[in-house]
Amino acid sequence: MTPADNLWDILQGIGQAFAFSESAMQRMVRDFHAEMRRGLRGESGSLKMLPAFIDCPAGNEQGEFIGLDLGGTHFRVLFVRLEGQGRALVRHAARYTIPPALTSGAGVELFDFIARSIKQFLAEHDLEQKKRIALGFTFSFPIEQTSSYSGRLIKWTKGFSATGVAGRDVAGLLADGLRRQGIENMEIAALVNDTVGTLLAGAYADPKCDMGVIFGTGTNCCYRESTPAIVRNPGLQKTAGRMIVNIEWGNFNCLPVNDYDRLLDRDSDNPGKQRMEKMVSGMYLGELARLVIMDAFAKAGIVCAGNGLAKGGLTTRDMADLETDPTPNLTGVEALLAKAGCGRTTPEQRQCVREICRHVSQRAARIGAAAISAVATWMDPELEQQHVIGIDGTLYARYPGFQGLIGQTLKTLHGDKCRMLTPAPVQDGSGTGAAIAAAVALI
Ligand code: BGC
Repeated sequence: MTPADNLWDILQGIGQAFAFSESAMQRMVRDFHAEMRRGLRGESGSLKMLPAFIDCPAGNEQGEFIGLDLGGTHFRVLFVRLEGQGRALVRHAARYTIPPALTSGAGVELFDFIARSIKQFLAEHDLEQKKRIALGFTFSFPIEQTSSYSGRLIKWTKGFSATGVAGRDVAGLLADGLRRQGIENMEIAALVNDTVGTLLAGAYADPKCDMGVIFGTGTNCCYRESTPAIVRNPGLQKTAGRMIVNIEWGNFNCLPVNDYDRLLDRDSDNPGKQRMEKMVSGMYLGELARLVIMDAFAKAGIVCAGNGLAKGGLTTRDMADLETDPTPNLTGVEALLAKAGCGRTTPEQRQCVREICRHVSQRAARIGAAAISAVATWMDPELEQQHVIGIDGTLYARYPGFQGLIGQTLKTLHGDKCRMLTPAPVQDGSGTGAAIAAAVALI
């Protein structure tokens, strides 16, 4: 057997390890419903089902608001004018790169950085003189809310580990930071997860939008629930109406895992946690593909000239480039592998690398679509109504083929009924959504 043949055999095994069949999806939907039920009752399980203390906007909210967005490598500040009739105008926006040391240093320094950035923004846009500006704060981590404008961080995800924040009210930490910078005209009107911001932005434009999804560095979803069903918060049970619930689906843990998933989880900074996120999101897909490539090469006896692909050496963005290299001999793949320390590779080896990336990203999209299907059928088991699903995040917006595969998988699962589910990209749900949250919370 030539090494190349051997590699194709190995690839077959990898294909099986990353297969996510229709019956696996149907099982996932059932398990997902069971976990949602547990979470809503406050029983232990992998889905937290966190009430957001806010419902969707009517679309006629008006006014000028500040939106803050913290959830990844950048912190953003926006000044948004809501014009009613579903129109939101971003008048000013700025992005501040968070120094990496701050994501793992003392939390108070992180909030000082945030407040300093806001101060700079207010000065640059002549907003310091305004008497009072309401702000909405999108904080893209799991928060146990105590009201629409306060909530405690349950735990950091996506590589953040700043100390002194978990267990504390993040709106309070922001207020302290603003005070230290002498900012007195800001009123923290709302605190929301990024999925909630995305749903609010989607629903402001289209009242049929009842789910907000993020496929980005992390992954998560929120939806509209009937308030009395939120048994975990006894105070809410007596309230009629609807409320948004942040599922925190990245932590769903009833999925079939393979050896590579186990390895990635074991070597992560949060073993046992965020299991679905580790199979679906931008923070992890590149690393997962790297583990598979290195294993396939080792099994085929391919020795990398350098150190081989080191941990963190393949990003999800690299993966997208590998998958879409348009050259017949995959010279782009060759260059990327050479840069990463794999030396010279044959065209077969490069094709194999590309196939591995496809297996990993396709499973991610299938799991994502099955999760969407689970939430939609939780709200509406027979899909009798139209559901618009607001979706944001770089993976969804930019990973080649991801959007198409989500649509295709929904069709596989629901046949013609999939016309009741309309995935709709929401641009900058976290930013404009924060401003809309402020407007809704103030009503
Ligand atoms: C966080 C969620 C967030 C998601 C998308 C996850 O890691 O736990 O709160 O919504 O990333 O940003």
